[in-house]
Amino acid sequence: MKRKKSKIVVLSGAGISAESGLGTFRDKGGLWDKHDINDVATPEAWRKNPELVLEFYNMRRELVLEAKPNQAHSALVRLERYFDVQIITQNIDDLHERAGSKNILHLHGEILFAQSILNTEKVYPVKGSRIELGDLAPDGGQLRPHVVWFGEAVPKMIDAEQIMKEADILIVVGTSLNVYPAANLVYACPPHAEKYIVDLNELSTAKQKNLHHLKGKASEKLPELVDQLIQESKN
Ligand code: APR
Repeated sequence: MKRKKSKIVVLSGAGISAESGLGTFRDKGGLWDKHDINDVATPEAWRKNPELVLEFYNMRRELVLEAKPNQAHSALVRLERYFDVQIITQNIDDLHERAGSKNILHLHGEILFAQSILNTEKVYPVKGSRIELGDLAPDGGQLRPHVVWFGEAVPKMIDAEQIMKEADILIVVGTSLNVYPAANLVYACPPHAEKYIVDLNELSTAKQKNLHHLKGKASEKLPELVDQLIQESKN
């Protein structure tokens, strides 16, 4: 009888895409150093100046389309051969998909998709790299990025908690765990699970709450961790 594959849950953030050339948010020189969240990533910002908001995401979408997955993304694909892997990402890029990962939940939306301001349920692939004022959904509503803004609900949070509750192993990678409710997911992980956090920088001890910190670049430390987990699964 085939042994049930252990379940690995990955919680990824901007740091996993940093080496693909996509900026993080809170590092020095990051996106929130260059842009004010209140101008580009809230419902009020949209009401005040939708063109500025559209331009912020058009600029980021063009960078995503030029970016390529890196060794960290590919390491997670390799893991799928030996474990039941579920990725919960805070990222709105499609690098996990393009690397070949199968089970991906985007907690904060996806920049390559748009939604109507009249109905958040349906999503439409963005044609090309830009959404302009006047681009309308079939329901006649202005298209906006399919992204969760600050102050908006995180519709997939319940699904994400359900997934996290099943983890035998948790791998947190490239997130400062500064944004809620996403950061609370770590606490939904069962006490018995092995918990790792791959991050380039020192983490405040509170955030390392029984997370084993592998300090370094995701493109180096994640493949090392994946090799170790695969080796252990063969023993
Ligand atoms: N390798 C590993 N970790 C890295 C690397 C790297 N090459 N580069 C940066 N990091 C780490 C940083 O040390 C930091 O802990 O990645 C983390 C990035 O943190 P943030 O910039 O805060 O990004 P993230 O945690 O994904 O932000 C969460 O905030 O603005 C919102 O919706 C946005 O999804 C985003 C959320």
